[in-house]
Amino acid sequence: MGEKTILKDRFAGKFIVLDGPDGCGKTTQSELLTKWLENGGVKTASFRDPGGTAVGEQIRQILLNPENTAMSERTELLLYMAARAQLWKEEISPALETGKCVVLDRWLSSTCAYQGYAGGLGIKNVIKLANDCLERVWPDLTIVLDIDLDVSTGRLSSTPDRMEQKGKTYHTKVRDGFLELAKGREDFAIVNVSAGIKAVSKKVIEVVNKKF
Ligand code: TMP
Repeated sequence: MGEKTILKDRFAGKFIVLDGPDGCGKTTQSELLTKWLENGGVKTASFRDPGGTAVGEQIRQILLNPENTAMSERTELLLYMAARAQLWKEEISPALETGKCVVLDRWLSSTCAYQGYAGGLGIKNVIKLANDCLERVWPDLTIVLDIDLDVSTGRLSSTPDRMEQKGKTYHTKVRDGFLELAKGREDFAIVNVSAGIKAVSKKVIEVVNKKF
């Protein structure tokens, strides 16, 4: 059996998420992981959450629009969950069913870290809600890209969106929330991103290779 056939079998129907605080580089790392999988003959589908569908992209605009200063934490929570339910139904579920490997930029782990931990709604409450409104709650593997806040803020855009505008205390808590959520879980891995893009990509590939 060739190496490509082996990779294809190992990753068919697997659901992998890359997540982490703003500016952690997960979009670049998702792209590099997807490229590696595709070069190995694995059929892959990748999406961003919130987004990836017409409905989800509209919800994303509402969530990130800096003019929506009145939005409450609970509204935020429900909108992120709504975009996710749509993404699952329209894109992720059909992709997994046809044996594709799905690589996702963020998922429920973000809601736990942002709205649950930093926003004060509680990680347990977020998971409880997710159990009621998502068909699939946890991916096969979630990789948290961990970054020091002083480094990540230097990577943010010059015109911060509504979430980026929440300030240093909030974003420090987001990082703590990811670490708290990942504690003791075998379906989570933490990769520190201080090593640079290529080294981090190598580590991410190492993690997925070990898992599947
Ligand atoms: P992005 O950085 O992946 O483009 O995501 C947009 C923003 O939304 C980012 O600041 C993280 C935030 N977010 C949450 O607060 N809760 C969530 O559940 C998700 C998926 C994202």
